[in-house]
Amino acid sequence: MPKKIIAANWKMNNDEYSSKKLTFDFLKHLSKSNNENVLKILAVPFPFLNTVSKMCDGVDSVKVASQNCSSYDMGAYTGEVSANMLSSISINFSLVGHSERREIFMEKDEDILDKVRLLLENKISPIFCCGESINARKKGMHLDHIEKQMRNSIFKLDASEFKKLVIAYEPIWAIGTGETASINDIDEMHNHIRNLIKSNYSSSLSNSISLLYGGSVKPNNAKEIFDIKNVNGGLIGGASLNAKDFIDIVNSIN
Ligand code: PGA
Repeated sequence: MPKKIIAANWKMNNDEYSSKKLTFDFLKHLSKSNNENVLKILAVPFPFLNTVSKMCDGVDSVKVASQNCSSYDMGAYTGEVSANMLSSISINFSLVGHSERREIFMEKDEDILDKVRLLLENKISPIFCCGESINARKKGMHLDHIEKQMRNSIFKLDASEFKKLVIAYEPIWAIGTGETASINDIDEMHNHIRNLIKSNYSSSLSNSISLLYGGSVKPNNAKEIFDIKNVNGGLIGGASLNAKDFIDIVNSIN
């Protein structure tokens, strides 16, 4: 069985004070009802990784993640943050290839593969994000689009590396828009991803990978999404900025 995971993606929100407050409130709610079987991951901005990690220290089912890392190893890359730096502060997960990185910062599949490899070398599990635009979906190209994103990057890994990944499917048109993909859309895509992994590697590997859905997941729609067979959790943007909403989403998964 894949691990159940609910990950918060704070994006470029919060400052030092509000990060601490959000983490404090999250841990307070969690202390009342913590489903230990669900891994909770907080993907927070770089400056708050250490503080949030220290606050969550000792809560085994909570991990802190970065939202990105450099595609370079080390050296003269002003402003970049390397996987090695993240590993040196005990970060075990990182988002990679989020559609906002792909669209706004022009990240290509090749850059994403470099990042994934560096993360793995540094013992950090990549949460690989993929998703199609509204145009690709309207043209009926959504399944091919996701396959291409995977073939150009993570399908180049060998099985021993691939098994350390978490995959998040996030249709771009559903991110931050309040528009969620339909149950059928999510079901179709998650089955497709599971089958692609199976045909590229093996069914046992495919069945072990956590597949998350992201895109306008809220407390009022989380349960029906998490009840879909091949959905093993969620990547939550907007709703993760409210501790109570985030915990309600966490508690929506069985
Ligand atoms: P959203 O963001 O929940 O605000 O749609 C999800 C994400 O971008 O990871």
